[in-house]
Amino acid sequence: MSRTTIPDLYEKYEGGEPLTMLTAYDASIARQVDAAGVDMILVGDSAGDNHLGYDDTLPVTLEEALSNTAAVVRGTEAAFVVADLPFLTYGTSMAESVENAGRFLKEAGADAVKLETAPYGETTIEIVDRLTELGIPVQGHVGLTPQRRNEIGGAYVQGRDTDTSSPGEALVDTARRLEEAGAFSVVLETVSEGVGREVTEAVDVPTIGIGSGRYVDGQVLVTNDVLGLGAEPYSLSKQYADLDSEIRDAVERYVDEVESGEFPTRDNAFDPVDEG
Ligand code: KIV
Ligand code: NA
Repeated sequence: MSRTTIPDLYEKYEGGEPLTMLTAYDASIARQVDAAGVDMILVGDSAGDNHLGYDDTLPVTLEEALSNTAAVVRGTEAAFVVADLPFLTYGTSMAESVENAGRFLKEAGADAVKLETAPYGETTIEIVDRLTELGIPVQGHVGLTPQRRNEIGGAYVQGRDTDTSSPGEALVDTARRLEEAGAFSVVLETVSEGVGREVTEAVDVPTIGIGSGRYVDGQVLVTNDVLGLGAEPYSLSKQYADLDSEIRDAVERYVDEVESGEFPTRDNAFDPVDEG
């Protein structure tokens, strides 16, 4: 099976079919997500809280993100792999942004990178322009931008009319400028359903929503939320499995069986010794 390309994604988008995307941070989860047939895998900086044990996305390092991305690429065959650029690995200077983004393609084998853009965020729009000119595909990300959590003051819905720093029209304008700068797609995170629809109508690249309602071109969720795997509940997500309890149950049974002598048995031994 050959890997999904941007033209493949566009063919599906232009055919009016919703695009599917989920996160993965390691090869074992990525392998299952890939085999189940998602179009895109995001090696999100949500690895911070979901994979690396940090409180949020801010501490994730370039090397951690590269390592996660390389593992996901090694574990997959079909999905288009998007690598999230961690906090302050872009935007500090153009040169550093290009070099760091390039490592995700050159060293880790990603197909594209994603970076967050603040409302009217000129710096990152210029970076998207430069990266795409050089051949590094970029997925934009507007709405709730968790790397700006200290600026925003929490995980609030973005694009509400009452929000002067980030009204819906700012998100529409920013998404348009990302498209002009060459972004092949834009993630919309936690915006009201009306704003999700407005942005989707305003741009000719696929919008991928998370907690952004129905009127977008595709959906992305954090796989830990979908699987019930060590996740803090995100109210706009949907949980399809309860892996935490499956894992706990299996491990408790293992501990019990070792402690009681039920495991291992003769069947688990090589060249078993028959006594008596
Ligand atoms: O890091 C992540 O998982 C993301 C998605 C929520 C879009 O950026
Ligand atoms: Na992210």
